[in-house]
Amino acid sequence: MANLLISGALGKMGKKVYEAAINSSLSPIAGVDIKQDFSNDNFKIYDSFNNVSEKIDVVIDFSSPKNLDNLLNFCLENNVNAVLCTTGYTESDLEKIEKASSKIAIFRSFNMSLGVNVLISAVKHVAKSLYGFDIEIIEKHHNKKVDSPSGTALMLADAVKSELPEKYYVYGREGIVGARDKNEVGIHAIRGGNIVGEHQVVFAGENETLTFTHQATDRGVFAIGAVNAAIYICGKNAGIYNMDNLIKG
Ligand SMILES: NC(=O)c1ccc[n+]([C@@H]2O[C@H](COP(=O)([O-])OP(=O)(O)OC[C@H]3O[C@@H](n4cnc5c(N)ncnc54)[C@H](O)[C@@H]3O)[C@@H](O)[C@H]2O)c1
Repeated sequence: MANLLISGALGKMGKKVYEAAINSSLSPIAGVDIKQDFSNDNFKIYDSFNNVSEKIDVVIDFSSPKNLDNLLNFCLENNVNAVLCTTGYTESDLEKIEKASSKIAIFRSFNMSLGVNVLISAVKHVAKSLYGFDIEIIEKHHNKKVDSPSGTALMLADAVKSELPEKYYVYGREGIVGARDKNEVGIHAIRGGNIVGEHQVVFAGENETLTFTHQATDRGVFAIGAVNAAIYICGKNAGIYNMDNLIKG
């Protein structure tokens, strides 16, 4: 059994990953979290990667971009592969991840659910087929989410742009901004309550509109995706992997 470390272990997702991992072929044996309100002999939570004493085979991270340097240093020093699920990385963070992936295997996706990743494929196809339709993306999340728009909304927008490179993104609209330009992709973020995550992609044409909606009703879907990704990258060669690799096997 591969030994799993959960980074951000005491967060909403970290706890779901633990539940998913104990029912998998992984053995969750340690966590790292700046919060320190739980630990037991079978699953020790450390306040820093520096204090981890167990032999770790793979890390799943749902924490914060602020944790990236510590996480990558730990993985590089110990030759441990990692699944990075945290969102809100800057361009410079993404460069660090890319650099680290020359030494270790890194699986990264802003959305670990199967449904969203199938939606991304569908959006690419529909964007080409419905050429000339106006495309807008609406995402809804709980009131604790710190980054906007969601990483998933950006993945969906990037899926459109990969097929229609002339498109550009407009984040929300306010005031007299003029009529909509045909190449805009409007991206809108709604925050409230405990919404786990909803994404809509609207294709609006003359007298007909197609709307695709993905709704996550339990964080468990992301946790199961992350655990499957961790099993997938155990023993893989250095490089960047994503949900496409996992879905295609
Ligand atoms: N890729 C996906 O499918 C997916 C799905 C859900 C959430 N997320 C992302 O995962 C991240 C966590 O989400 P959440 O809902 O569990 O948040 P959360 O706030 O409930 O949990 C984050 C945990 O990380 C810990 N943490 C924060 N900074 C840290 C640091 N520097 N070092 C160690 N621990 C630290 C916090 O104490 C907390 O326990 C967010 O970026 C969120 O957007 C991604």
